[in-house]
Amino acid sequence: MAIRATRRRFLSALGLAGLGLGATAPAGAAQAGATTAKGQTVPFFGPHQAGIATPTQDYVEFLALDVVSDVLSDLRALMTSLSDAAARMTRGQPVGPLQTGISPPVDTGEQVGLSPSRLSITFGFGPAIFNPGRFGLSSKRPGPLVRLPAFPNDALKSAYSGGDIGIQICADDPQVAFHALHDLIRLASPTALPRWSLSGFGKTSNSRTQQTPRNLMGFKDGTANIMSEDTAALNRFVWAGAPESPAWMTGGSYMVVRRIAMLFIHWDGIGFDAQERTFGRYKVSGAPLGEVHEHDPIRLNARKNGHLRIPADSHIRLASPAYSGGQRILRRGYSFTDGIDRNALTTAAGQLFICYQRDPRKQFIPIQRRLAQADALSAHIEHVGSAIFACPPGANPGEYVGQSLLG
Ligand code: HEM
Repeated sequence: MAIRATRRRFLSALGLAGLGLGATAPAGAAQAGATTAKGQTVPFFGPHQAGIATPTQDYVEFLALDVVSDVLSDLRALMTSLSDAAARMTRGQPVGPLQTGISPPVDTGEQVGLSPSRLSITFGFGPAIFNPGRFGLSSKRPGPLVRLPAFPNDALKSAYSGGDIGIQICADDPQVAFHALHDLIRLASPTALPRWSLSGFGKTSNSRTQQTPRNLMGFKDGTANIMSEDTAALNRFVWAGAPESPAWMTGGSYMVVRRIAMLFIHWDGIGFDAQERTFGRYKVSGAPLGEVHEHDPIRLNARKNGHLRIPADSHIRLASPAYSGGQRILRRGYSFTDGIDRNALTTAAGQLFICYQRDPRKQFIPIQRRLAQADALSAHIEHVGSAIFACPPGANPGEYVGQSLLG
């Protein structure tokens, strides 16, 4: 009895006590439960979807779904249900009743007692949603939502690629992110089924408030990224709008996802200096070669003894806006591990590269074409998965994400 009372007080503190009775919580009760420590929630509603320009969290679960139905009203119902669940979870609320007696719980419950941990859930539509004869949406397909071309050295596997709906789930607690993945998959079924998913950690930073973390090759990753505080750069390079995007995408963004394996069998065997020349930055400080501090400007023309300080085939030179007609992308990648590479007898790991932009035809595609052809890093990585999604603008309270397209 005492244990029950304690448990009840605990659930009550979380706003879950009503749910324990197996009833659907009144919206107000659930709202009242969302008392979270300051800074731990990222608002779900707003002009832009959270999880794009908001500061990167520590963990990701990425989920690609395939929609089984070809009926527009099913897609609408799916997005309504997923958006509603996402809004709840980002406030720290369960997606539905937890203690359901003889029925399976609606909310699976592994987040109970944890804070929302800045959970953000970002949705995007893959190109196949717009296929003629499917949902009747072909005339609404945005020009920038192209199928990505094949790049040199691509080794793509369909098991890691594509998807009708892409969902990027980020949180500072991996269990909170996993819970969202788990419950979104359950809610999506049977209208949509999981196609691929990947867990990640070790973010590419995108905020001046963050120290730049290291990727699994040991280099600081995110130094020259578009920062979430840089509104001018976000407006210019990230948020979709006229003339290239249709009105329903205004304020949205295009997400490109690449699962990139790191070939440690090669990388771990090259010299430290060669590693630094591969990226064009010092490994320990993160400074551009020839400079001292991480955030020192990149001087692409600087030379020493007649040689370019930042080599002609280095990653930061070839990815630089100077080589892309001034274009930039917002990177939001994560490291992942995948056990052992049985062929190479070393660890299998890599980067789930995620980037956002206004038009992939002018941003990701030309940059990646150049990198794949000439980047010294290409010898040490392999692109094994690929997907592209049009992420619509954010929803207002009472709306669902994608309403501007489907509503
Ligand atoms: C496993 C694959 C990759 C790794 C380990 C990696 C790592 C890095 C590192 C360490 C930097 C320098 C620090 C920084 O500014 O963040 C960097 C910069 C950058 N990377 Fe990558 N990268 C990878 C793939 C890609 C891909 C596929 C693209 C785009 C097609 C890309 C685009 C960029 C851009 C635009 C910059 C900033 C360049 C600048 O303006 O200085 N990277 N990357």
